[in-house]
Amino acid sequence: MKVIGFGASISTTSINKTFTSYALGFFPEDEVELLDLNDFTVPLFSVDCERENCPVEAKAFLTKLKEADVLVCSMAEHNRNWTVGFKNLFDWCSRLELKVFQEKPMLLLSTSPGGYGAQNSLNIAKTIFPAFGGNIIETFTLPKFHENFDATKGIIPEDLRETFEHTVERFKQEVRKI
Ligand SMILES: Cc1cc2nc3c(=O)[nH]c(=O)nc-3n(C[C@H](O)[C@H](O)[C@H](O)COP(=O)(O)O)c2cc1C
Repeated sequence: MKVIGFGASISTTSINKTFTSYALGFFPEDEVELLDLNDFTVPLFSVDCERENCPVEAKAFLTKLKEADVLVCSMAEHNRNWTVGFKNLFDWCSRLELKVFQEKPMLLLSTSPGGYGAQNSLNIAKTIFPAFGGNIIETFTLPKFHENFDATKGIIPEDLRETFEHTVERFKQEVRKI
């Protein structure tokens, strides 16, 4: 099974990319690939810009998603919403293929330094993604990233770590049934 993951952010120090990388570590028997949205830089979307051409990077991102059997996506949050970098790439992709996520089973995550852990952004994704081919199987939010996550140990609080591990296990079981 090929597992493709990405943090929904263009920050070069994205904690959601870090968290996605950690999540991919829970798929030791599978081929995993972590995408960086900075490898798919697209101009700011507008219908005027679209008339000129659709950037190859949007096509490349969709091609990558096509390669996946399952997706792991961690939502970053700016002002209680998706980050502009992710939304922009998503908008371009949606113009090429409405079913951006191509019905691939998805483990949807989020994290932020705050106590709500970017759950606004995750909730919007939960509502919106299904209309764009998102097949969300499980979700998990990690609050207070800098307190609750260590680069070598991963999720530090035992209760949160166990919840995360159970979430991933349930996700894998569901995927096996599909
Ligand atoms: C403009 C701006 C708005 C933000 N708004 C929120 C917010 O609404 N909720 C939240 O949890 N964190 C918010 N943050 C903090 C981000 O969660 C934090 O910068 C995080 O590192 C972003 O994820 P990333 O590192 O994966 O890009 C905001 C940060 C910025 C710069």
